[in-house]
Amino acid sequence: MEKFVIKGPSNHINGIVNISGAKNSCLPLMASSILFKNEVFLKNVPFVNDVFTMIKLLTSLGSKIKISIKNKTIRIINNKNHKLIVPYNLVSTMRAGVLTMGPLLGKYQKRNIFVAKGGGCSLGIRDINYHLSGFKSLHAFNTLKDGYVKISSKKGLVGSKFRFPNVTVTGTANLIMAAVLAKGVSIFKNISIEPEVVDLINFLNKSGAKIKFIGKRTIKIVGVKEFLNGEHEIIGDRIEAFSYLCVGAISKGKVTVKNIDPKFLNSEITTLKKIGFLIDTKGKSISLNCKKKLKPINFKTGPFPKFATDNMPALMAVLSKIPGKSIVEETIFSNRFMAAPELCRMGANIKIKKNNATIIGQKFLNGADCISSDLRTTFAIILGALSSNGKSEIQRVYHGLRGYYRLVFKLRKIGVNIKSVV
Ligand code: EPU
Repeated sequence: MEKFVIKGPSNHINGIVNISGAKNSCLPLMASSILFKNEVFLKNVPFVNDVFTMIKLLTSLGSKIKISIKNKTIRIINNKNHKLIVPYNLVSTMRAGVLTMGPLLGKYQKRNIFVAKGGGCSLGIRDINYHLSGFKSLHAFNTLKDGYVKISSKKGLVGSKFRFPNVTVTGTANLIMAAVLAKGVSIFKNISIEPEVVDLINFLNKSGAKIKFIGKRTIKIVGVKEFLNGEHEIIGDRIEAFSYLCVGAISKGKVTVKNIDPKFLNSEITTLKKIGFLIDTKGKSISLNCKKKLKPINFKTGPFPKFATDNMPALMAVLSKIPGKSIVEETIFSNRFMAAPELCRMGANIKIKKNNATIIGQKFLNGADCISSDLRTTFAIILGALSSNGKSEIQRVYHGLRGYYRLVFKLRKIGVNIKSVV
């Protein structure tokens, strides 16, 4: 099985990283292709493993897909009806498989649709109860049979008023994709306004949907009859961008990330500045420079525009080397500190109590063999390893490859001594 071998420490890393398209934008955009009668053409596609899983899933439903890795494009062609079963093996490899439920329901409202229910995952229990309550408000009812959610709307979807009990990213995307083809008007409150959800809204509106923000977290959707063709360029990946800024941060170097809108990272940039990093934004690029004395910090994750939970593990790694006491509060997932025990194997001092991590920054870390257990944990461990003295071997890096495009190539290009060993 593929593993990474890193020799550290890499100090003062200096370089430029071109950021790929956002995985968490690409997946719902691909799922939304189910709504279309003809073709959807996506540009700036990050060909990470989750995208290949979504390609497999859509192909299993009957879509024809043409990809060009060189041009970073995907063409999804729907010239026949989809199958209405989303199998467990694909939903269990990638939770975002649930994103097909909304568009299948929108397109095939009166039919029975079967989507495998995902189990728990390393981040904690990840229920889809908000998705299902939202669909129910549109008059789509579900039952659970043999691990599959069976859902349909016998009389067709009808626009509704629905308030999400808590902000959910894929729940919002899913409900929007069903409601755009519902009869009448829907008003959804307390929606996710993550840039990736806004990207989906922009794409659907360009393709004929009528979705309008009527409040900060409230949208009004007027259902339309059909979607024919769609074309869209995927936004840059804010999580990937922040991850590479952290390479600059932990190595006390200078890293510039390109092809990313700095507005997507406002909270993160503010946090980095408070620690003492110099941040310069220009157009679609962000540079981090480390010139001043660095201070520990207390910060908390939250739905956008707050500090993203996906960016927390990387900053936790950075803080493990900044002298003093930092406290991190995680508010989204019940189990998001999986990087901590691995970083502690390198000598970090991180104590976890419920949803808080207390970090006492250390001057040195020492290379160690580690096991990654999820996508963002992989990058946090890489950060620890690259700033450690000596060699680290990281196992189960397939988690990282689900969401970071050309991970080893991009790290090597800016001077990290990392190699992939199979
Ligand atoms: N939740 C429920 N019921 C629901 C839906 C969510 O209880 O029906 C809870 C979740 O268990 C969690 C919280 O609400 O505690 C927020 O979950 P959300 O639904 O927002 O997460 P998600 O949509 O499953 C997306 C990203 C994640 C990212 C989270 C939070 C995609 C494909 N995934 O997941 O990305 O961490 O939003 O921002 O967009 C990653 O890329 O590494 C990743 C895990």
